[in-house]
Amino acid sequence: MTTPESSTQAIPETGNVPRHLAIIMDGNGRWAKKRFLPRVAGHRRGVEAVRGVVKACMARGVGALTLFAFSSENWRRPKEEVTFLMQLFLKALEQEVEKLHGNGIRFRVIGDLSAFEPVIVEHIRRAEALTAANDRLVLTVAANYGGRWDILQAANRCREESPGAEITEERLSRHLCLNYATEPDLFIRTGGEERISNFLLWHLAYTELYFTPVLWPDFDEGALDEAIASYRSRERRFGRTSEQLAATLPQPRAG
Ligand code: IPE
Ligand code: IPE
Ligand code: MG
Repeated sequence: MTTPESSTQAIPETGNVPRHLAIIMDGNGRWAKKRFLPRVAGHRRGVEAVRGVVKACMARGVGALTLFAFSSENWRRPKEEVTFLMQLFLKALEQEVEKLHGNGIRFRVIGDLSAFEPVIVEHIRRAEALTAANDRLVLTVAANYGGRWDILQAANRCREESPGAEITEERLSRHLCLNYATEPDLFIRTGGEERISNFLLWHLAYTELYFTPVLWPDFDEGALDEAIASYRSRERRFGRTSEQLAATLPQPRAG
């Protein structure tokens, strides 16, 4: 398998629509609290928002969508909430995978799956196998994922592969969980916090960051379009100057 280009080793192609969109879906708890509902009601509504965003991404030609569903630090939450989230994940796997497959979506899960119940892991593996040949959109769910964990597991795999050999960027990125996708062009975090919370630490090197106060259950097509419009308005320089960029763009014809 060839590893997609690296933003620090080459200048990636960019377009009007992000090829890869990565989202921290935050604000479910606050959405529920505002309505005097239990936090878990927000998580339930969050799944509906996922459905809408997946559909909207397909319609806009986004090639890869990566969603942060559960961080390696989310185990610190109250036990009842963690249990609910696991049940919700299982239910979503049971109910949504056929639909994803029918829509030509390739489904992947990244994260340390060793902490999950075997029944969940089984559903994940089955869904990944079923949808492996699809190519309309690759939908990745990050579950028990941590950016530091990802870098460390990749480094350890490099060492096992050839102990003593130098670990290069190219070798390391081949072992990172998202080795099948380009680096995200656009990162969105809903819910108003402006932090990365141990999401894709390696991959966000040159990603455009977008933070919105919209709570995840309220994040709809319109909110996605606002994020994409912001992305379009940015000048992605990858270390170069504005003048250099202008020189590489097609010049308007005189007359
Ligand atoms: C994000 O919403 C969902 C998960 C982390 C699983 P939160 O549950 O973090 O919602 P807030 O941040 O408390 O509002
Ligand atoms: C980040 O949200 C993780 C997910 C959305 C899955 P958190 O709500 O856990 O992040 P912090 O704790 O506010 O940084
Ligand atoms: Mg949160």
